[in-house]
Amino acid sequence: GHVLVLAGGLSPEREVSLRSGGRLRDALARIDVDVELRDVDAGTLPALAADPPAVVFPVLHGISGEDGTIREVLDLYGLPYVGAVPTACRAAFDKATAKATVAAAGVATPEAVTLPREVFHDLGAAALIDRIAGRLGLPVIVKPRAGGSALGVGRVDDAGQLAEALMACFGYHDWALIERAVTGVEIAVGVIDTGDGPIALPAVEVEPAGGVYDYAARYTAGATTFHIPARLDAAALRAAAETAVTAHRTLGLRDLSRTDMIVDTNGTAQFLEVNVAPGMTDTSTWPMALHAASLDFAVVARDLAAQARD
Ligand code: DAL
Ligand code: MG
Repeated sequence: GHVLVLAGGLSPEREVSLRSGGRLRDALARIDVDVELRDVDAGTLPALAADPPAVVFPVLHGISGEDGTIREVLDLYGLPYVGAVPTACRAAFDKATAKATVAAAGVATPEAVTLPREVFHDLGAAALIDRIAGRLGLPVIVKPRAGGSALGVGRVDDAGQLAEALMACFGYHDWALIERAVTGVEIAVGVIDTGDGPIALPAVEVEPAGGVYDYAARYTAGATTFHIPARLDAAALRAAAETAVTAHRTLGLRDLSRTDMIVDTNGTAQFLEVNVAPGMTDTSTWPMALHAASLDFAVVARDLAAQARD
């Protein structure tokens, strides 16, 4: 049987996912793996039934991909897949749940509050800003409680910016996560587990030319400078690696993940989020970290697929 890469779908990260999936498909094909790429749509389920793959490699980012939905379907079909099971995906994809879970394991994460759209509509930004600023101070980062690629994410430095940030956020999700802004070094730490337990890949520091690691900075070649390993001392690099592995373990993830964090001015790795289907585009940090570790993207992907199948 073949390896089926599932990508695309309907999430706002559809284009990113197609780029990730295309790169994964090409890499596997180059080392002679029998591989097919499918853009997920209504034809996907009949195709799974008619021509069942040996194993599925889901590279769907965002809603219905990383929240576990598609993996529930794969479980129904009895098809093995690479990556975390649905319950673990759901916990990881919900940033509030993920933060609370890793915090209980001793990981630092910026203080945050969640806010449903209804409360914003009922009370308005003017009534909310005092509560938010009173609790968290300013600046804060407003982000969709679940989402990816920094879509709908905004920074609020003064009270007047809250309404616009919340409206942008609610374009992507019904709930906002409002987090105290942390100053420091922004890094991503990939994790792989090819059978010997989760190990952290080298930390990738992102230095966006425009200062903000937004959608354009993530997916435009040259828009961000990457430093591998991150420009941190040995103790901070160790702490970051430990944080990524702890997040992976604590949330019950499998095979691969990527934890994004900010190492604050005290050298503490502050957990922001974990991705169960990390980006695999040409500008994505997970494949970059593999390369820096002298690991071949195609071979690791093939090994993860083989491990999931067996
Ligand atoms: N959500 C994007 C794909 C990432 O985390 O890489
Ligand atoms: Mg993410």
